[in-house]
Amino acid sequence: MEVIIKKSKEEIGAEIAKRILDDIKENDHLVLGLATGSSPLPLYKSIVEQSKKENISFKNIKTFNLDEYYGLDEKNDQSYRYFMNENLFKYLDFKKDSHNFPLASNYEHYDELIDENGGIDIQILGIGENGHIAFNEPGTPLDSKTHITFLSENTIENNARFFKNIAEVPTKAITMGLSTILKSRKIYLIATGKNKASAINIMLKGEYEKYCPASALNLKNDNVFIYLDEDAASLIKK
Ligand code: F6R
Repeated sequence: MEVIIKKSKEEIGAEIAKRILDDIKENDHLVLGLATGSSPLPLYKSIVEQSKKENISFKNIKTFNLDEYYGLDEKNDQSYRYFMNENLFKYLDFKKDSHNFPLASNYEHYDELIDENGGIDIQILGIGENGHIAFNEPGTPLDSKTHITFLSENTIENNARFFKNIAEVPTKAITMGLSTILKSRKIYLIATGKNKASAINIMLKGEYEKYCPASALNLKNDNVFIYLDEDAASLIKK
């Protein structure tokens, strides 16, 4: 696991975007695992800008998103399908059928679908205040595959900022499991802001703690890159 501390979320986004696009130049059939939320937004903006400048095509790239709220229609502006389209997909030349999300109709076969497509080459992750990755809340078993889950109170409260009020936040979601995520060949986790510092500190102790799902990344070690701003890194013991 490598920890990289940057001054701003924009710098983080620009650097990861460059690394991803360099990989795409080597292999334009990559499979990307994608996250939603605030953390990857500067990354997606940079991917769009840099790929336009360099004329990089996404027509052979496949994507698998980490999670989706249970029961939200794709036209709902809070659905993660809507988010991905608005923030990334619509700006690039992806083929229509190249995007996958875990849904009630496919989640039981989502891990197999990922395998059939060659596995995830690059996985983008954010991290919850409580250490969740995707919607694997504290206590999720290590061997979990894609599954339906209940969101913790902390996650519902945090995600309420995107909805009109907290009552509108779905209480259930479908998420890749921890074992699904750990199978990815390369992982970039992005954490910015003071509210992520405690979870980051626990994760970087180097051991797997069941109450901090992100600490499962310690079991993978190679090709895991943790990008932090100074606030998210503020509790790391020197
Ligand atoms: C979203 C996801 C979540 C977020 C996490 C952090 O697809 O998987 O685990 O990455 O909740 O969210 P932000 O980035 O909004 O702080």
